[in-house]
Amino acid sequence: MRILVLNGPNLNLLGQRAVDIYGHLSLKDLEARLDEYAVKLNIHVTCQQFSGEGQLIDSLHDANGWAQGIVLNAGAYSHYSYALRDAVEAISVPVIEVHLSNISAREPFRHQSVLTPVCAGCIHGLGALGYELALNALEALFRTQTSP
Ligand code: DQA
Repeated sequence: MRILVLNGPNLNLLGQRAVDIYGHLSLKDLEARLDEYAVKLNIHVTCQQFSGEGQLIDSLHDANGWAQGIVLNAGAYSHYSYALRDAVEAISVPVIEVHLSNISAREPFRHQSVLTPVCAGCIHGLGALGYELALNALEALFRTQTSP
């Protein structure tokens, strides 16, 4: 099983940016940890990070051809990007939305994600653990869909 882990704008600054909210783990460390975790589940992960909306959309379209699941943290785009929302809706690969922080407990503009209605599920507020749980969820969904 192959999974794309796609991070959006400002997530490249993890470990430096608002550490009280996002923690001390860098994106590189988060990805390395996830890679190790994925091996245990027999999953191959490809991690990408883009700042631009267009790059994220292109990556989602491309993954439609090779991935069986996508973990997406679109950062602030989650709250307003209808273009990203439409891209998620347009592809047939299940997408789990992840946010490190508890977006419901933060500023009002973060309470809504326009992506959630078109995602298979959403995990927020659990830090890096949320990415691991998303892998578990995608693996379980895949297993249910492919079992006779
Ligand atoms: C975030 C939450 C967003 O509101 C914010 O813009 C981010 C990170 C999170 O992982 O908690 O960039 O997606």
